Amino acid sequence: MLLFHAIAQRHTNREPFAPDPLPKELGAALQEAAAAEGAWLEFVDGEEARNGVADLVAEADRRQWADRHFRQELAHWVRPKHDAARDGIPLQEAGVQDWLSFAGPLLIRTFDRGGGMAAKDRDIAVHAPVLALLGTEQESRASWLAAGQALQHVLLKARTENVSASFLCQPVEVPELRGQLAALVGREAYPQVLLRMGYGPEVPAAPRRSPREMLIQHSTAHP
Ligand SMILES: Cc1cc2nc3c(=O)[nH]c(=O)nc-3n(C[C@H](O)[C@H](O)[C@H](O)COP(=O)(O)O)c2cc1C
Repeated sequence: MLLFHAIAQRHTNREPFAPDPLPKELGAALQEAAAAEGAWLEFVDGEEARNGVADLVAEADRRQWADRHFRQELAHWVRPKHDAARDGIPLQEAGVQDWLSFAGPLLIRTFDRGGGMAAKDRDIAVHAPVLALLGTEQESRASWLAAGQALQHVLLKARTENVSASFLCQPVEVPELRGQLAALVGREAYPQVLLRMGYGPEVPAAPRRSPREMLIQHSTAHP
């Protein structure tokens, strides 16, 4: 399958994955894909590093959920079931099939569920068939752009081999934990995205705004 054809088939997949690891050649190809865009991709190897990463995910969950502004922003982007919005994350797909999917944005905004999320996400990280960290040598706007391109290249390449991914970016988002995350894969800097990868069931596409809504119309006066 071409990367082009994978564009329409790639979806963030928050369902449980089969325990199978990725073939070695695919791992190397994903690292090459990241490097081609000016970023690096490291796999979390060994029990100790995996537990370390899982602990950081859990710690970041606790810190983020303790922050009222974080909860407000999250509540703003999750969509209750059957919501007609063409953006955001539908709650039944957000990997939160516990009371959150029943409760909806109001309760997310109001209650610190950090402890529960931490335990759940720790479990997801520990049992992920593959954990991969994508990062850059520099921290600049240009490197963030490179990280985005590398992420898309890696995700599309993975999809061509029926490999899905979902995100566990919390420890990248908490500045005090970000350096520890890098150290666990033998890098000094700068982690940008933490991914869980593996073989999962097909999932539906997330809602999208139409391209028409995203275009800005400029009218230029001709002399
Ligand atoms: C940089 C980045 C970080 C993300 N972090 C998370 C995350 O922490 N948790 C999560 O559930 N999804 C995360 N996502 C996934 C988005 O929610 C997802 O891409 C969006 O819902 C669109 O769905 P799609 O990937 O299926 O097109 C992240 C996506 C990007 C690009």
